[in-house]
Amino acid sequence: MNILGIETSCDETSLAIVGKGKKIRAHTIFSQSSIHAPYAGVVPELASRAHVQVLLTLYKNLNKKHSFNAIAATQGPGLKGSLMVGMSFAKSISYACNFPFYAIDHIKAHVYAIQLEKEIAYPYMVLVVSGGHTLLAVAQSPLTLEVISGSIDDACGEAFDKVADFLGLSYPGGPAIEKLARTGDPYAYCFPSPWLRNHTFSYSGLKTAVVLQNHRFLAKGARESAQNIAASFQYAALSAVVNASFYEIQKKKFHTLVVCGGVAANEYLRYLFMSRNKHNIAIEFPSQELCTDNAAMIAGLAYWYAEGNLQASFDASVYSREYNYLKHKFHQ
Ligand code: KG4
Ligand code: ZN
Repeated sequence: MNILGIETSCDETSLAIVGKGKKIRAHTIFSQSSIHAPYAGVVPELASRAHVQVLLTLYKNLNKKHSFNAIAATQGPGLKGSLMVGMSFAKSISYACNFPFYAIDHIKAHVYAIQLEKEIAYPYMVLVVSGGHTLLAVAQSPLTLEVISGSIDDACGEAFDKVADFLGLSYPGGPAIEKLARTGDPYAYCFPSPWLRNHTFSYSGLKTAVVLQNHRFLAKGARESAQNIAASFQYAALSAVVNASFYEIQKKKFHTLVVCGGVAANEYLRYLFMSRNKHNIAIEFPSQELCTDNAAMIAGLAYWYAEGNLQASFDASVYSREYNYLKHKFHQ
């Protein structure tokens, strides 16, 4: 079974064809970051419009060389307008070609991404760190995710984007902060940890602390380096998810941790995980292309929806939030 996956949850328009949940036969990603860069963040209306503009062309190019017999699109969480573009497109093709249609959860797809490159036995612990999500969970199967903790406000990647904007860096902020931080001192400032005592995350306090610190030395007329702020922020932002992951994995006695989502592309995060791994935990990261938003993870996971007979109906709508988060169980 070859499934065409469509991902339009945020600012990447991506299409992929994946065979039997494993073999990536075609994959294309159009990034909108240059469209959103002047605004230092994703502008939902512009994102929806850009998806509309490029989707058909990307599809035609893919369809020239590859065939498929089922179609899947991201249903949520994400920007509703953007999700609707991909979902409507996929439904049209499904209707016209009489192919089954699957509506896929974006977070479960991030968690599944690693399986496209490596066989990881279930269950495993997973840390999802992206622009929209920060959560720790147990992946029981491709379709069942048990959420342990999440952020009560900003996501980790979102904090990178906002601090980067504050420091006058380019969008997306994650790679820009990582680059600047390479020449800074991560211990220059002791910023508050975003991992709270009740085992949830909160990135808004860290963001405020960075802003206050900057004002303080500007007021003193000090020529403080942005490198030190970037490095200290990055250290605090990433130490939190690293420490929380090790805490939970030991508590739950797992031996494998998968780290995914856009922030997982960060090399310093990988370094922190490796250097603090005192208990021989197998820590797995997808390749950079499969860390950030992509359709291969959507088409790959869709195979398991098909196996579970979980075809979506044409009245399936989109959702913007991690809708089952409070229930702590995330079943299909
Ligand atoms: O997974 P993703 O493409 O989209 C969401 O589902 O949110 O993640 C995008 C996020 C952005 O906030 C971006 O700044 C962040 O991932 N990011 C990084 C790095 N590369 C991307 N954050 C830190 N370091 C990086 N190298
Ligand atoms: Zn994502």
